[in-house]
Formats: sequence, C-alpha cells, structure tokens
Amino acid sequence: MGHLFSRKPVKLLLEEMEGENRLRRILGPIQLSSLGIGAIIGTGIFVLTGVAAHDKTGPALMLSFVVAGLGCIFAALCYAEFASMVPVAGSAYTYAYATLGELFAWIVGWDLILEYAVGSATVAHGWSHYFQDFIGIFGVKLPLALTNAPFDFDPASGLLTSTGTVIDFPALVITGIIASILVIGIRESASFNAVMVGIKLAIVLVVIVLGAMYIDPRNWHPFAPYGLSGVSFFGRTLMGQTGKAGEPLGMLAGAATIFFAYIGFDSVSTHAEEARNPRRDVPIGIISSLAICTVLYIAVSAVITGMVPYGKIEIDAPISKAFAQVGLPWAQFLISLGALTGITSVLLVLMLSQPRVMLAMARDRLIPQSFFGAVHPKFRTPWKSTILTGIFVGTMASFLPLRILAELVNIGTLLAFVIVCTAVLIMRRTNPDLPRPFRAPLFPFVPIAGIAICLLLMFSLPVENWYRLIIWLLIGFMIYFTYGKKHSALRQMNRVKVAR
Ligand code: ALA
Repeated sequence: MGHLFSRKPVKLLLEEMEGENRLRRILGPIQLSSLGIGAIIGTGIFVLTGVAAHDKTGPALMLSFVVAGLGCIFAALCYAEFASMVPVAGSAYTYAYATLGELFAWIVGWDLILEYAVGSATVAHGWSHYFQDFIGIFGVKLPLALTNAPFDFDPASGLLTSTGTVIDFPALVITGIIASILVIGIRESASFNAVMVGIKLAIVLVVIVLGAMYIDPRNWHPFAPYGLSGVSFFGRTLMGQTGKAGEPLGMLAGAATIFFAYIGFDSVSTHAEEARNPRRDVPIGIISSLAICTVLYIAVSAVITGMVPYGKIEIDAPISKAFAQVGLPWAQFLISLGALTGITSVLLVLMLSQPRVMLAMARDRLIPQSFFGAVHPKFRTPWKSTILTGIFVGTMASFLPLRILAELVNIGTLLAFVIVCTAVLIMRRTNPDLPRPFRAPLFPFVPIAGIAICLLLMFSLPVENWYRLIIWLLIGFMIYFTYGKKHSALRQMNRVKVAR
C-alpha cells in the first residue's frame, strides 16, 4: 500500500533531465507564449460562447469569463511555480508525482488524456464544422456521407441516434495532417503555430474593434437573466436556477461551460523540456498567454452580447453570425477563416502535449516505455505516441458522438488544476528550501483560491459529468493496478534499496 503514495524525489527528476533520450531545446519565451495562445483561443470562444450566453448567462457571460479566467490565473501561477522548479516534460503529472505520490500522479496523467486527447477530438469535430461552413461560402459541399459522425447523442432521450452519415472525413484528415507535422519536429510545429496564432489574434482584434462600433447598450439589460450563480451537488441545485434537464443555470454555470475556452495554457508546461531556459521562460509563457487571452475573451463577450440580444445569439457560430445579424455579412468570411485557423492551432498544440505527458509516464514505466518513451533518432520527437495519439483522436473525432465529451474535458481539466494547486501547498511545506525561480505570489491565498474556484466550477457542470469522470477514473485504476503499479520504476528502485 505504502508504495501507492511514494513520491518521486525532485533530485531524481532533475537528474533525469540531464540524461540521454532528450527532446530538442529550442523554444524561447515568445514561442512558448505563442504555443500557449495557440492552444487557448479556439472552439471555446468561437463556438461555446453562443450556448453559454443563449442558454445559461445572458450578458453576464462577461462575468463568466472573469470568474473562469480568475480560476485559471490562480492555477497558472501554481503551474508556473512548479514549472520553474522542475522543468520536465510531464507537467501536472510530474508535479503530482513529486508531491502527492504515484497513485495521484497516475490519476493526473490519466486525467490529462481527457484534457489533451479527448479535448483534441472535440476540437477536431468543431474544426470540421467550420471547414464545411467555410467551403460552403464558395458553394462547395461535401457528400453527406462524409460530413459527420455516424451517430449522435440525444440529451433529451439519452439515446444514440443515427445521423445518416458514415464518417466525419474532414476531422479525420485534419488530425492526420497535424499528427504528421508533429512527428517531423517541434521547430516546424512551433513555426506553423506562430503563423496561425498571428492570424487568429488579428481576427479576434477585428471582432473587438469592429464589433464595438455596433454595440447597443440596451442589449446588456437584463444583465443576468439566469442569475449570478448556478451550482448543484450531484443533481440537487444548491444555488440558482435549474434547466429542463436538471442542469444548473446562471453566471457560474456559464463559467463552467466556457472554461473550455481557457484550456490549453497549461500545455506550455509540457514543453518545459524543449525550452531553452525553462526556469524563466515557461512561467512567462504560461502567464502571458493566459493573461492576453483573458483580456481578449472578456472584450469579445462584451461585444457579442452588446451587438445581439442574448436570446438571439446563434448557438453554432455565434461570433460570425453576430456580424451577419448587424448587416456585415463580409465579416462572416473573415471570422470563419479566423475560427478555422484558431481551431487548427488548438489542435496542433493539444496533440503536441499529449505524447509529452505519455513520455514522462513511460520514463517512470507506468506505461510501456519501449513504445511511449521512444524518441525518433532524427526528428527527436516522441513519434510512436504521436502517431498513436493521431489515430485515437482521428477515430474519436470521425466516428464518435462528441457532444458528451466536451464537458467531460472540462471536469477532467478542472480536477487536474485542483491537484496542481494542492501540490503547490504541499511542496512549500515538504521542500521549503528548494530553489523556486518563480514563486506563486500571496501564498497560500493563490493556491487555495485556485482550488476553491475550480471545485466550484466542477459543481456548476451538469451532474452526468461527475459520473463520466468517475467511470473514466475507474478504467484508469484498472490499468494502473494491472500494469503501472507492477512495472513502476520508482517501485523497482525502492525494492533495490530495501534489498540492500
Ligand atoms: N481552449 C481551447 C479551445 O477553446 C481548447 O478550443
């Protein structure tokens, strides 16, 4: 039993960083921030703002972005402290291993698959819809059979329904292209990402500046038609209104939905091993990308809810449709292009991060090292797990109904953030003297506030997500107890020590 909570010594982590089989150290602060922004601005702002404003918040969506952004900023400061202390590839997984022990590390590693791989599948699905919209502007249409996953989940009946199609072909193609780029190299990936980030930032700025001219302040009244809360505990509403399917409504419930828009800043910490000066640049990358996106998000949500009465905000393409609604259909073209580029870079960075977490887990032998730990001799990328990630994401995105999976991504990521904030609290106690080039300020307020806000958001999601998260974790435990625990490198090391 004791082994389940044995911690990986920080000294060992630092030694490992110096060893063979390393990734290439080529990323500077600008590239790291750009990877962060690349992972952040995408489906969340371009798609989910519509559902959130229309069904859960009204104009109070602006506050939802403030609350979710605050939770993320507190968590980001904790990530930054860890990243500066142990700048290795595994991100939250490694931090948990060093502080809370192997079982928690496994939970986080397993949980990060939800964030990165399942998140990528959700995003690829969104990409496909924007792509089809975009080519539709030029009158091009794909055959129906290739447009969507073959079945969908109907929340009203709780059943799977046929969509009459065969495969979401564009989702499969984009996943294949991105996986190939990622195998070739981190430098190529980072440059490709930088171009896309430039385009999407420019278009988001156009949305803000142009949209601001069309704001009618009367649209901001009533400000919070669904109230300012929305919290439930396993199906029982504790605060705020309840929707038709029993889900919480209100500003906080909206924050839990649009939290997806912030996911990704933590992926910067998975590139610590490829950073030229990780102790300084990874914290810069995490905090600056998140700060920039938070400001942009609050501005975009103010603009959209100011341009269109909340009840008329489109659910599928809220931003581009808002411009069509105020009589600027040409802006629709520009915004679809921005959305498409934005979502492509999210996919790129999320799919870049997943194999790096697996690499760290493989080095600890919690998953097979020969496969997940393989670094390509020429490209120096974790190529086998990148290809596997591509196959997993492509299959899910092209064949599975992903509606249910998007919120699962949120709850899984929130759990990872709670664990990282807790780990910072513990580490300050257990290793107070370890060099911390970056320290989370206002200790212990920042980690405690991070834990509180992330937990609150977890309870603002519809209850089914808790059940799905529990099932996912149970599957993870089965794998850990049948494979990971037996093969664990730390366990073998401790055994050798005891034998001596
Ligand atoms: N934050 C990313 C997005 O919104 C996952 O697409």
